Amino acid sequence: MKNSPIILSILFLFATMFCAFQSVAAPIPKDKAAEIASYTATMIIAGRGVVAKNQDLINDPNKGNKGFTPEYVEKQMLESFKKITGKDISDLDPEVQKVLKEVIDAAKLSVKMNQARINQKGKGFKMYIPAVFGRETGQILKAKTDIAIKQTTFKYRNAYNQPDAFEKKVLKMFENPDYPMGKGYGAIENGRYRYLKPIYIRQACLKCHGEPKGALDISRHKKEGYKLGQLRGAISVSFPVK
Ligand code: HEC
Repeated sequence: MKNSPIILSILFLFATMFCAFQSVAAPIPKDKAAEIASYTATMIIAGRGVVAKNQDLINDPNKGNKGFTPEYVEKQMLESFKKITGKDISDLDPEVQKVLKEVIDAAKLSVKMNQARINQKGKGFKMYIPAVFGRETGQILKAKTDIAIKQTTFKYRNAYNQPDAFEKKVLKMFENPDYPMGKGYGAIENGRYRYLKPIYIRQACLKCHGEPKGALDISRHKKEGYKLGQLRGAISVSFPVK
């Protein structure tokens, strides 16, 4: 058959993907689940912050090559992670490190896939924003491992982010004014550890998610009318446990 080398290489690709999936899909020990979930959410928050901090650079229409490379983003993410947690990832438990490296690799792949968009000259707003970075990183990680990351909220713009029953329950808890600000919540459900870390509206979020409610933001979405400090949603992490 003329096409057999192509078919063979496709088969090989699937086999490699399958093995990769198997190696990282292994269930995580229950006693490490809370730590891994919390650090994973923090790493996503760090990455979102890096994309936020570099918005002016990314959206500079006069500059072609921005130097916003996967390696640059990795370095910034690790620095930000250290600022937030006080820890280098090398200080952490090897099981935690393994997962965080997968998260960083997924983030780097999102940045890599978007190089043409980021480096486009003559275009201002490019829609490579924290939410897009976070969604893509989660989607890549989920395709490669059995770890799912989602940025969820009741007022979702992208249907991909809509909360499931567990996420709704926890978001409701976070909305309670008596719930401690910033505190994550985790539980085991159907063999998976489920964890949410709340995220809040900061100054930089208001130009798209703030007031006046219903007005269009630069991404041509309707603003939700949030005020500074309000709960915006959560980083949701889930994976199988043993
Ligand atoms: C430039 C406009 C812009 C800014 C600034 C912005 N966002 Fe968003 N945000 C969006 C868009 C557009 C989406 C939908 C992205 C997608 O398609 O996944 C979104 C989605 C989200 C989501 C996922 C849930 C959903 O609505 O689908 C969260 C959570 C979120 N934003 C939080 C924040 C926070 C927190 C900040 C400030 C640190 C922020 N955003 C700043 C435009 C913005």
